[in-house]
Amino acid sequence: MMKVHHSPVLLNESLEYLITDKTGVYFDGTLGFGGHSQGILHNLKNDGRLISTDVDRDAFNFSKEKFKTDDRIKIYNFNFMQIDLISKIESIPLYNGIFADLGVSSFQLDNPDSGFTYRTDAKLDLRMDKSKVVTASDIVNSFSEEELADIFYKYGEEKNSRQIARKIGEKRRTKKIESTTDLSELISSVTPYKYRIKTLSRVFQALRIYVNDELGALKDFLTKSVDRLVKGGRIVILTYHSLEDRIVKESFKYETLDCICPKDYPVCKCDKESRLKILTKKPLTPTEKEVKINIRARSAKLRAAERI
Ligand SMILES: C[S@@+](CC[C@H](N)C(=O)[O-])C[C@H]1O[C@@H](n2cnc3c(N)ncnc32)[C@H](O)[C@@H]1O
Repeated sequence: MMKVHHSPVLLNESLEYLITDKTGVYFDGTLGFGGHSQGILHNLKNDGRLISTDVDRDAFNFSKEKFKTDDRIKIYNFNFMQIDLISKIESIPLYNGIFADLGVSSFQLDNPDSGFTYRTDAKLDLRMDKSKVVTASDIVNSFSEEELADIFYKYGEEKNSRQIARKIGEKRRTKKIESTTDLSELISSVTPYKYRIKTLSRVFQALRIYVNDELGALKDFLTKSVDRLVKGGRIVILTYHSLEDRIVKESFKYETLDCICPKDYPVCKCDKESRLKILTKKPLTPTEKEVKINIRARSAKLRAAERI
């Protein structure tokens, strides 16, 4: 079994919000290397159940081995958007708690073969699900400069997006951009030294979000999850950047509304029902102590809500 160093972020806080019934049924949409799933299992009695899934094949294989002796957990290698399909296979209509810890795992970031970071030289890939066809390299080499600039701006909030896209256009006329190093050298060449690390992170984040349609998957998962909670069941989501956090915040807010009619309607004509009560008015963030031990926790935000 490969070695993985991983500390699950905001573990105790996540479990406190998530688990309301130790004999209940839970769903972990981002299994990774099983940190949070293990925490959930520790808190469940013998008749509790956990369904966990991850799109990443390595994460799936690792965790399948890790939990092979615990028959309370079933593991899938599906996108969390497939929660309806998984639930059908498992004959589970509703869950007591649904959890997701978004983004990429420490293993994906540290593994030189996965090409998730500008810090190591690898193929410019960025797919979590390797069965998908389009890689980051395909996008960087075929999209127009304008389309690339839009991706960097929209998904990386990168202000220098146009200049970076222009440089990509110029470079690829002579040589395809195939590796993380090709891209990071090119970004560095148009970025002042003191902004380099942040710019590199933002551009790689933007491409990763686009390649994996992370925001589309999140919106879809949040809606389906509310459909799949028992009354009193909880949804707990950990995000790592403002784009994800905004989607979770707005989706929870929308689910609290019991009317979405235009303001000038004298009476309500919609059949909207309020389905969630927000449990975290402000998102929870890690303590300084946790961030000291686990630097990846630094940007984490936890939001939780309860099905009413
Ligand atoms: C931050 S890690 C989760 C770590 C995990 N909580 C643990 O403690 O080991 C995020 C994981 O979610 C997976 N992932 C991201 N988006 C996904 C999606 N739409 N469906 C399923 N898995 C996804 C990634 O492949 C990655 O392994």
